[in-house]
Amino acid sequence: MAGKTCWWVDYIIYKLFRRFFQHPRRILRDHVKRGMTVLDVGCGSGFFSLGMAKMVGVKGRVISVDLQTETIESLKKRAARAGLRERIEPRVCSDRTLEIDDLAGQVDFALAFYVVHHAADAPGLMMEVHRALKPEGKFLIVEPGHHASAAECEATETAAQQAGFTVADHPKLTRDWAVMLVKS
Ligand SMILES: C[S@@+](CC[C@H](N)C(=O)[O-])C[C@H]1O[C@@H](n2cnc3c(N)ncnc32)[C@H](O)[C@@H]1O
Repeated sequence: MAGKTCWWVDYIIYKLFRRFFQHPRRILRDHVKRGMTVLDVGCGSGFFSLGMAKMVGVKGRVISVDLQTETIESLKKRAARAGLRERIEPRVCSDRTLEIDDLAGQVDFALAFYVVHHAADAPGLMMEVHRALKPEGKFLIVEPGHHASAAECEATETAAQQAGFTVADHPKLTRDWAVMLVKS
């Protein structure tokens, strides 16, 4: 019983932490605009996909990709409950490819939040995102400060540059490392 209580306490604290410190609108408001096509790489159950769907509005589009079927099913339910299902295109990918070749040159903004350190092929993932973006399209990578070491973050940035990105900024986020990349 005590363990169950702790699980719920942890869950609520985590949800509050995310809403307060990682609010999608606060982090993304300078980058995600109405009518945009955005890509949420490793979307999980859609914390950022739902936030971005509100930001892009009825004429916008959010493509949400994850390799876990269960998280994509959870995202579909959450999107339907929020009345955002029509703006969100959930996709299951494999651990070797995002399977987004059909998006080449169509995406305005891409996000990989707490994903790159999990990826089996991070350089490949970055090349796929680079192809999907429009010229000058932006890609924000955020890695958890408590998981990704400085050397891993540096390797991520190097792989992004090798994929053809230019580093535009290192946004300041509470406890996390972030890099804003631009397709050049
Ligand atoms: C820590 S969760 C973050 C989820 C979400 N971005 C968020 O901030 O709530 C990492 C997610 O990345 C997904 N993932 C890991 N490697 C991936 C890959 N190569 N392609 C797509 N998704 C991947 C996992 O399945 C998991 O849902």
